[in-house]
Amino acid sequence: MTTDDPQLRTAVVRALRSSGVPLGLVEERASITAVPDVVVVDIRGERSPGLPALERLRAKWPAASIFAVADSLTPDVILQAMRAGANEFFAWPTAGESSSASMEDGLHGALGRIAERLALAHGDDTSASRTFAFFGAKGGTGTTTLAVNCGAELARLTKQPTIIIDLNPFLGEVALFLGVRPRFTLLDAADNLHRLDTEFLRELVATHSSGLDILAGSDTVDRPNGQDTGALEELVQWLGRSYEFVVIDAGHLTNPCAEVAVNTADSIFLVANPDIPSIRNTQRVVDRMEQMGAGTDRIRILLNRTSEQHVIAPKQIEDALGHPIHHAFPSDYDTVSAALNAGVPVALGSRSVLATQFVQFTRELAGLPAAVEDSEAGRRRGAFLGMF
Ligand SMILES: Nc1ncnc2c1ncn2[C@@H]1O[C@H](COP(=O)(O)OP(=O)(O)O)[C@@H](O)[C@H]1O
Ligand SMILES: [Mg+2]
Repeated sequence: MTTDDPQLRTAVVRALRSSGVPLGLVEERASITAVPDVVVVDIRGERSPGLPALERLRAKWPAASIFAVADSLTPDVILQAMRAGANEFFAWPTAGESSSASMEDGLHGALGRIAERLALAHGDDTSASRTFAFFGAKGGTGTTTLAVNCGAELARLTKQPTIIIDLNPFLGEVALFLGVRPRFTLLDAADNLHRLDTEFLRELVATHSSGLDILAGSDTVDRPNGQDTGALEELVQWLGRSYEFVVIDAGHLTNPCAEVAVNTADSIFLVANPDIPSIRNTQRVVDRMEQMGAGTDRIRILLNRTSEQHVIAPKQIEDALGHPIHHAFPSDYDTVSAALNAGVPVALGSRSVLATQFVQFTRELAGLPAAVEDSEAGRRRGAFLGMF
């Protein structure tokens, strides 16, 4: 997107985010590796980047759909913009009443058409990469535990390239949970986007015995921060081209880079515990994510540390959240702490009910058929899930 007008930028970003089409936003100046499908250029008035910018971008990205935003859509303006290379035209007057609703409708229609065309062009490409982000409703709900186990299981079960990245500033624990000592962090990747290629990335990641690659969390106190979001969003998009599955431990919504995960994830997993503060926070987080443009269909609730003596019934939790519980994981401190001490994910080192749940959850994510159960764990799982 190219404009000097913050109001227009906000309006366009809001309209694009609420379109229902999953997309990542990249600033032109930050766009080193990304080739956008859609470019929005402000061609209003004297101060705007205008038609010369539009021409330059058309030359730079010949295959992109370019949206021109003009003061008014007179035949003259449309003709000029078309000659410069624009595909779609929208009006957003610089002065007076701006009608954001009609621009929003127009943008939604245009984006929908482009998404359909791209889907057709890619055919039924089943190798499209998927990004899963894990957020905690509050600290200690098990976000890192679920993200790490999901990543390791995806790598082990599918044998497909899988990476986990730790977006937590300073105190990320992904590498620790997996028992690896990384030499580099995701900041080394974000700060060197201009030289990022598969070879360089291989230097930066640590690999777990399950096959899972790890881009470890920053060990710098104040990074990643708000200024890193552009580079990190681009990094995640870049990883999506090299990996089948990208798993993000996004920490909490208060993380300054949370929007990177919200914007890039195909599914957003919100990890809650069956207690009042956790459920109250989950409600708030769901609301805020919807405001950020996440759209309810991408948000999935994971209930972790359930016990047989649940204080709040799952149905009550679902009613309070207005969202179904996508998956429930039992509380099993012995299994989790043994796995943590050994640096081995739960599902790899145990035949517990919890391990069975991780396998089941991950198989579903990867689109694999459910595993046949013959174990003691499987029988006990049946009894446990009967309560839900
Ligand atoms: N299902 C579970 N049963 C028992 N303990 C768990 C479970 N999931 C996580 N834990 C424990 O809870 C603590 C917090 O988990 P963690 O994954 O670090 O949460 P977060 O990343 O949300 O802060 C850890 O000590 C972890 O071992
Ligand atoms: Mg954590």
